[in-house]
Amino acid sequence: MFHKQTSLAGTAVEDWDLAPAAVAVGILIFDVEHREMLGHLRRLYDGLAEGRPERQVRQTVADLLAVAKAHFHHEEEYMRMLDYSDYRRHSDDHYALGAKLQNFMDEMFATDASAERNLAEVRAFLKKWLLEHILEHDRSFANFLARKGIR
Ligand SMILES: [Fe+2]
Ligand SMILES: [Fe+2]
Repeated sequence: MFHKQTSLAGTAVEDWDLAPAAVAVGILIFDVEHREMLGHLRRLYDGLAEGRPERQVRQTVADLLAVAKAHFHHEEEYMRMLDYSDYRRHSDDHYALGAKLQNFMDEMFATDASAERNLAEVRAFLKKWLLEHILEHDRSFANFLARKGIR
């Protein structure tokens, strides 16, 4: 049974280098996909922090969104295939995460969006995604898969 690792709050998950290991769920393909998403998210943060051109930053968010959507679809495919009982709640959270990212992409270069606000938004997304989604929803699903002998 998975227990929320509250000790991670404010430590490893906020460190870009440690985050992938801190949120490993033990299902290889999903850990690889999470790592890829984290890589894009980190590029987004760096791009905003360094004041990269809007076109370039937008491309990074588009890449992140594409990878995230493919990953969510991938997890949901497994859930449907295996008749996972928490499918609805988990997929609703995927939808909310995608919508939040899309919303951020629409607003990040609005006239009243400061660089500080954008960076804070990305960090908030990182924390929300990592702490609330991967550590809760994905780990529960990964434990379900492990009980079925899938790794
Ligand atoms: Fe998920
Ligand atoms: Fe995931």
